[in-house]
Amino acid sequence: MTDSKRLWWKDGVIYQIYPRSFQDTNNDGIGDLPGIISRLDYLQQLGIDGIWLSPINPSPDRDFGYDVADYNAIDPKYGTMADFEELLDQAHKRKLHIILDLVLNHTSDQHPWFIESKKSKDNPYHDWYMWRDPKPDGSQPNNWESLFGGGGWVYDRQLNQYYFHMFAPQQPDLNWRNPAVRAAMLDVFRFWLDKGVDGFRLDVFNEYYKHPDYLDLPKRKGFYPRKFEQLEHIYDVSQPEMYPLVRDIRKILDSYPDRYVVGETYLADPAHARTYIGSDRLHAGFDFRYLHSKWGAASFGRAIQYWDALHGEEAWPNYVLNNHDTVRSTTRYKADEADKKTRLLAAMHFTVRGTPYMYYGEEIGMRDITLLPTELQDPVGKRYWPFNKGRDGCRSPMQWDASAFAGFSARKPWIKVHPNYPKRNVAAQVEDPASLLNFYRELIALRRASPALSRGKIDLLPLYNQNLLVYQRAAKHEKLLVVLNFGSKPEQYPLPILENGRWGLIFAGNLPEKSQINGATLHLPAFGFGILKKQV
Ligand code: NOJ
Repeated sequence: MTDSKRLWWKDGVIYQIYPRSFQDTNNDGIGDLPGIISRLDYLQQLGIDGIWLSPINPSPDRDFGYDVADYNAIDPKYGTMADFEELLDQAHKRKLHIILDLVLNHTSDQHPWFIESKKSKDNPYHDWYMWRDPKPDGSQPNNWESLFGGGGWVYDRQLNQYYFHMFAPQQPDLNWRNPAVRAAMLDVFRFWLDKGVDGFRLDVFNEYYKHPDYLDLPKRKGFYPRKFEQLEHIYDVSQPEMYPLVRDIRKILDSYPDRYVVGETYLADPAHARTYIGSDRLHAGFDFRYLHSKWGAASFGRAIQYWDALHGEEAWPNYVLNNHDTVRSTTRYKADEADKKTRLLAAMHFTVRGTPYMYYGEEIGMRDITLLPTELQDPVGKRYWPFNKGRDGCRSPMQWDASAFAGFSARKPWIKVHPNYPKRNVAAQVEDPASLLNFYRELIALRRASPALSRGKIDLLPLYNQNLLVYQRAAKHEKLLVVLNFGSKPEQYPLPILENGRWGLIFAGNLPEKSQINGATLHLPAFGFGILKKQV
């Protein structure tokens, strides 16, 4: 596909950076924007098209950036607005697009709006948040809970009212039913679009509106240890007012060229997530069924088939194996040190129909770190350890080289580096033709060069056996077959008969043991795979 016909967010690959952990340049142990700028060449060589930055707005970091204290500024720990403009400029020079994370469901309790809102009931900002009177017995206004644990309401003695928070108590939810809030938030989009930002990732967007009558949530059937899961979340999320809003957001984006918005649908099944996607809505939405899939051909196959069918021809799916909220796929699936399983996953991830998202360090096979209770930073881990160890594990510093602190910083980072960094790092893998990093580069380049892989339709073939996931990708002049062996034993796969032409293996990876065609059969090693092309 010629570069002029490419649509960056559709044909390309999007790379998520957790700015705190990517590259520190001022040696305060926290990553920063100049650090990201210094690594743009690396990202360009990887072959990606877009960078999603987890939040970089000023934040007291009660939820590490997901508690915003000013939407139109850059947190000084990450740099200045001038640094951000430089990042945009340098990224654009390399044809890399920048996606900002907008956290608009709630603010930090240090946001000036909330500080005002707490001052008195007649303060103009009071109604910007979800304040309610106590029940006659003084208890919280209804039975809503916080995802991060405990009741969803915090009592304010001075006002004799409660405010609602879906996440930490320091993350009060905004009252989107107030037209001033809605207008202020749409201005946030315009502010960053005017700066030249290419897209947005909307944090828990379908959570913005709640039921106007604050009705109690009904109980769910079944046994769940936490109160949050015991409730049917029908009034605190996914309210109908979200549809006109996504349309208004899209109209704003469409008044600028080639912009993109992807939504993180919260507490919703894939079918519901799909309802927010379309030519007059969001460009894309996340579904985490694939990310939460068990290891195995059938399980991944089901997730892909379902998500793909929901999109049909009219919409474009995307796929995520790793992000800042989830145990890394290497750790989750107990990857082997030779990265065979990790290569297999990547071979699937970059060949399904849809935009592949990746998370920093995925390309070198970073693993989760293990933390002691005293080292925990994430509010979720702090509250629930050891039942839920929180999300710190996947947020460790990027492993650039074998020097102290993995080349991330010259001083002790905010969170520890994985002890495997002297061996598992970018510098070592760049040099090694058989490395996972070079595998990712080759695979991404293959995807970019292939119309069938970047734009073609996908047809999953019936399950041949429990280990093999097989699908075809077809564009006008190109037909590919992808065969993936999730099993720990070699497999043989009889190739589908072609009327005219034969299957040729075009990609089998950079490990010594590779899949091979023998007659009409594809022989796959344990965790092996093959990408085949119809040749005439
Ligand atoms: C979803 C984000 O991905 C997560 O990291 C954050 O804690 C919550 N939203 C609250 O903003």
